[in-house]
Amino acid sequence: MKDASPQPIRLADYHPPSHLVEAVELTFRLAPRGTRVRSKIRFRANPAGLENGNLRLDGENLRLVSCALDGTPLTALDYLLTPEGLTVPAERLPGPSFTWEAEVEIDPADNTALEGLYTSGGMFCTQCEAEGFRKITFYPDRPDVMAPFTVRIESDLPILLSNGNPAASGPGWAEWHDPWPKPAYLFALVAGDLVAHSDRFTTMSGRDVALNIWVRPGDEDKCAYAMDALKRSMRWDEEVYGREYDLDVFNIVAVDDFNMGAMENKGLNIFNSKYVLASPETATDRDYDFIESIVAHEYFHNWTGNRITCRDWFQLCLKEGLTVFRDQQFSADTRSAPVQRIEDVLQLRARQFREDAGPLAHNVRPDSYVEINNFYTATVYEKGAELIGMLRRIVGAQEYRAALDEYFRRHDGQACTIEDWLAVFEDVTGRDLSQFKRWYTQAGTPRVSAEWQVAEGRLHLRLAQELPPTPGQPLKEPVVIPVAMGLLSPEGAELLPETTVILDGPELTLDFDLDEMARRACIARPDHVIPSLLRGFSAPVILDAGLSRADRLVLLAHDPDPFNRWEAGRSLMRETLMEMLTGGAPDPALFDALDRLLAEDRLDAAFRALCLALPSEDDMAQAAHDAGLVPDPTAIHATRRAMQVAMARALQPRLAALYDAMDPGPAYSPDADQAAKRALRNSALTLLARIEGPARAKAHYAAATNMTDEIAGFTTLLETGDPDIARRFHDRWKDDRLVMDKWFMAQVAHAAPEQAVAIARALTDHPLFDWTNPNRFRSVIGGLTSGNPAGFHDPSGAGYRFLADWLIRLDAKNPQTAARMSTAFETWRRYDADRQALITGALDRIAAQDGLSRDLSEMVERIRA
Ligand code: ARG
Ligand code: ZN
Repeated sequence: MKDASPQPIRLADYHPPSHLVEAVELTFRLAPRGTRVRSKIRFRANPAGLENGNLRLDGENLRLVSCALDGTPLTALDYLLTPEGLTVPAERLPGPSFTWEAEVEIDPADNTALEGLYTSGGMFCTQCEAEGFRKITFYPDRPDVMAPFTVRIESDLPILLSNGNPAASGPGWAEWHDPWPKPAYLFALVAGDLVAHSDRFTTMSGRDVALNIWVRPGDEDKCAYAMDALKRSMRWDEEVYGREYDLDVFNIVAVDDFNMGAMENKGLNIFNSKYVLASPETATDRDYDFIESIVAHEYFHNWTGNRITCRDWFQLCLKEGLTVFRDQQFSADTRSAPVQRIEDVLQLRARQFREDAGPLAHNVRPDSYVEINNFYTATVYEKGAELIGMLRRIVGAQEYRAALDEYFRRHDGQACTIEDWLAVFEDVTGRDLSQFKRWYTQAGTPRVSAEWQVAEGRLHLRLAQELPPTPGQPLKEPVVIPVAMGLLSPEGAELLPETTVILDGPELTLDFDLDEMARRACIARPDHVIPSLLRGFSAPVILDAGLSRADRLVLLAHDPDPFNRWEAGRSLMRETLMEMLTGGAPDPALFDALDRLLAEDRLDAAFRALCLALPSEDDMAQAAHDAGLVPDPTAIHATRRAMQVAMARALQPRLAALYDAMDPGPAYSPDADQAAKRALRNSALTLLARIEGPARAKAHYAAATNMTDEIAGFTTLLETGDPDIARRFHDRWKDDRLVMDKWFMAQVAHAAPEQAVAIARALTDHPLFDWTNPNRFRSVIGGLTSGNPAGFHDPSGAGYRFLADWLIRLDAKNPQTAARMSTAFETWRRYDADRQALITGALDRIAAQDGLSRDLSEMVERIRA
């Protein structure tokens, strides 16, 4: 029998904790099986607690050895123990303040969910966000309970780490003290045979901080870039936000088995090793980019997340949206700002717009959840970051900084809500943000449309917004949409310098005097004007700009806003692909425009590479769906290929010249300048291979001295059908886990669609396929679902069956990763009746499993609804 579905938790039901924690002492006697955890927790009744006064402690998978209150042992009659936790009734409590002591036993080696304390490759490590601490000991595992922690670790392993500052150590033990009150989700412990890449940092007030990146012996030469990124992040947060680091040490540990990217535990960040380890030979420019932004992200959480945390998990975007925004700002400052913005918007559209358009759409601040791990989503993170960006645009950079200063001043040490956050902005800027708040409480991507006409020397521009219904939200109120805009003449002259208008009602009409604008621009009054709207993607909306092809060609050639230049090209590409999908041929004017853009040597090579990239197959499926068509993944794949061939033919001389000109030479640096050249050069390589055959890619692969070039050659050769290439790559890299993840992934992602499922299946039989390792699982199964949509959506349904089989298998061990991967099914309503039936069949088969996790059952239910 299937368990009855668990009840959702609702924001509206929040109540403050009955007890607060004044101090925590933990002692760990580590063993892979039978780790003993002793806790001593000083509680005091919370005056604000509305509860009955019972002591409520969360606890899961714990063997309770003993417990006591103020030194008096408790018997089983003194408390109520359930699979979710332990309650001591108010009448058994000694008074408003008391000390709880307990000893529990846990089995880290058995912990395949990778939540709580677990082992990975011989080391012990933890992941407690969101609710993993309750698998370590009994505790009020909620973010609004904050306390200083003292931790003692006993183990024969040489390196023993926890949060805060080292307090004392001896042979076989170490003690740590974290003076900053924190919620349990920020607790961390690591023990292992580790080596450090060490450095130091002096903070703006002169405090000396020891920095360490802990890795397995042999990996210490792959930490330099992460360390460099850490030091630059620390400096940047001082300079841009005035935030200084607050402990004597900052430790980062790289772990091979990790469900997510990384975790911001106070003073002891734990990372998926793929976001720490890098050498030119093993990591791509993209990997370096990720390492930099994730190191920054986790470091920035020290203030936005740790010093100020969330009151409850509904407020997750309070820390995540803000911290993503901060890491995006950092990357924009560090690399090229326009390129960063385009890449962020590509991600937002690919993941968040997709989520918002389907059954999993939810508010940036959700109203309810069954399993909070299912809400670490692109909506909370990336759309959450967009809301901060809009707020900053609306109030201006100076007032934004003043508001942030006040936020840190007012709420340091507290667990806060979105209301607290917005109140700071209201108080500092004197604005009313009640309408802006709708962005947090309404799901779905607003649609903005523009219409305009030129008459009697004036431009009349009308903007309108529409908010499509989402699950549970049929009707919505208009939101506040900042629209950054400019106006161009048909020759590309700038008629209106950039300005931001606010669309906050259903519509807005604007009126411009063309004579006056022409006079200021020193040109004759034009009889046509081209609005350049939503510059820099000033709001997370879908814009129908109503521009003709000719208008967009002008913007592609002349828009002073690089984002809109790129956007004009992207929209022309999407339209061309849509026309080809229904039998049309590409317009040579687009290729001419691209050719001219590629020739602009003063343009950033990374920007040019982005302009050359086609919308993805998933973008095309969504575009087809939006146009009222039923997307055919096979046809979309073939059309994209045909477009690449057409582009390669039209641009061949230019691409060949760029291939030669963009070689940054043999001395590798991951900096933005070199990475940009390699990106453009490798784009040229892949396009040229569509018409030239494999010779250039073979030479490229043979000559590669870094992984960026090697993988570009490898994937191109996989597609052009070099029969031996996978074996050669394997033989060279079989001992490097992270590179082998790429090997697994690339073979599936670059397989011909009709072979993709068979190749993926064969790879799951490979001796190096360890499905309990989340990275490896994602390489093969994600390689199919995200990397090869036409293969995943094979009309036979083999891809759906393959995914369902693996989700069922993984769910029994690791519900979190299984649930996350199930989002591959979220777009099922886009497709034809046969595919819909096959997908719902697969979902129903999953739902019918005995003992399905709360994580996966919630996802399947929401997707199916
Ligand atoms: N707070 C972490 C970060 O954004 C992610 C933790 C995710 N945990 C989870 N259970 N989903 O860096
Ligand atoms: Zn985060």
